[in-house]
Amino acid sequence: MYYVGVDLGTSSVKLVLMEENGEIKNIVAKEYPLYFPKPGWSEQKPEDWWEQFVIGMKELLAGVDHSQVDGISFGGQMHGLVILDGDDAVLRPAILWNDGRTQEECDYLNITVGRGKISSYTANMALTGFTAPKLLWVKKHEPEIFAKIAKIMLPKDYLAYRLSGVHCTDVSDASGMLLFDVKNKCWSKEMLEIVGIRREQLAQIFESYGVVGTLTEAAAKELDLPRGVRVIAGAGDNAAGAVGTGTLEHGMCSVSLGTSGTVFIATDEFAVDDANAMHSFAHANGKYHFLGCMLSAASANKWWMDEIIGTKDYPKEQEGITALGDNQVFFLPYLMGERTPHNNPNARGTFVGMTMDTTRADMTQAVLEGVTFALRDALEIARSFGVKIERVRLNGGGAKSPLWCRIVANIMDVKVDKINSAEGPGFGAAILAAVGCGKFASVEEAAGKLIKVVETTEQDAALVAKYEEKYQTFRKIYPALAPVYDEIVK
Ligand code: XUL
Repeated sequence: MYYVGVDLGTSSVKLVLMEENGEIKNIVAKEYPLYFPKPGWSEQKPEDWWEQFVIGMKELLAGVDHSQVDGISFGGQMHGLVILDGDDAVLRPAILWNDGRTQEECDYLNITVGRGKISSYTANMALTGFTAPKLLWVKKHEPEIFAKIAKIMLPKDYLAYRLSGVHCTDVSDASGMLLFDVKNKCWSKEMLEIVGIRREQLAQIFESYGVVGTLTEAAAKELDLPRGVRVIAGAGDNAAGAVGTGTLEHGMCSVSLGTSGTVFIATDEFAVDDANAMHSFAHANGKYHFLGCMLSAASANKWWMDEIIGTKDYPKEQEGITALGDNQVFFLPYLMGERTPHNNPNARGTFVGMTMDTTRADMTQAVLEGVTFALRDALEIARSFGVKIERVRLNGGGAKSPLWCRIVANIMDVKVDKINSAEGPGFGAAILAAVGCGKFASVEEAAGKLIKVVETTEQDAALVAKYEEKYQTFRKIYPALAPVYDEIVK
């Protein structure tokens, strides 16, 4: 039997076809546009996701016996606001996780209503990327659209709906809406009231490995698949990525170098950080996790490579980087503002420290290091809770670079484990599909059988010490520049 894992990312949808023994039979990626209608805004069209998903599925399954496809599941970019009218037509482009337009709404929730109250309802504070503040924004700025909302969904759930006809979501992704009582895994009555929405506008909640339904007649016809193919709820991309890297046991940590950069810590029990510095979300295995998220990670490197120096040959560009730990150039990767730890949509990307002999390779290195220093900020918050983090599992596009793996190992002072699949969320989604279809008794059992560590990058004590010094300098740059960023944005 085959299981399809769909990673609905920000730059593309990645489809993974997995056999029941965990072998990856095929991988297909299809891109779609990302719109920045104003500085700091970020939108995509849900119809583009569906269109590219369908094209990709046809390519993925070409030459495969379609009757052997058992289930489809998802890992999806989190927090995006997708709204449908009473006929299930999309009302406006989705407002994405890295959109910074809702500072006023967040101030209302965190200050006027009060962060303590919001956190007691949802286990989190309001952050500009989260879904509830976006609903308040639509209510204020587009009241005629707000009045027509019949269904509120998250990005991957739009695909699940188009496949199954069910308005569904899963506990991990719902956690990032600020409408969900994470501890009790149900919609928060209080938040619904605060935002001014009704329960029936929200989706039905499933565990990530829960079966939502089977294909509708229209979806089966469009994809040339049997109607009995099961649709499994899936997870937010970070929880799905954690399944795909086997980050399931209490205290295990995975780091993602995707469009966003995240630090993910699995926990057995629900817990909330008093300062809400890290997100407290449900995990895809029925348990919980802490998450820190920076808004530009591999995307900062992509911006630097594609837009600024104009190359697509990332490995060749990285060949010029030979000496780690001695770079005088620093880069602050806040190209879309920043979430963890600064929570500041006005933060901006910045290079500091160039001289006349600075090279292109120094600048490229600074980008990779700057993203990693910024991720270390999140890691240090988790360490401050007493979590011992001595090894991490890397995923996301950036994890394919051996140089970046070394930089992560030495800046974070951890061992970096590489596992048998680099397809984090897509692989995790395929595993969730297999669990949902009953091939495995639990996510843990599936991960135990399908995921292996194949290589470990170890840190080097001398380099760790050099990077420690650099990190202390890096930490001083943002506070010095924060007032300047506010002036620039005004
Ligand atoms: C997590 C977050 C990002 C997106 C990226 O809170 O906002 O990691 O899920 O796809």
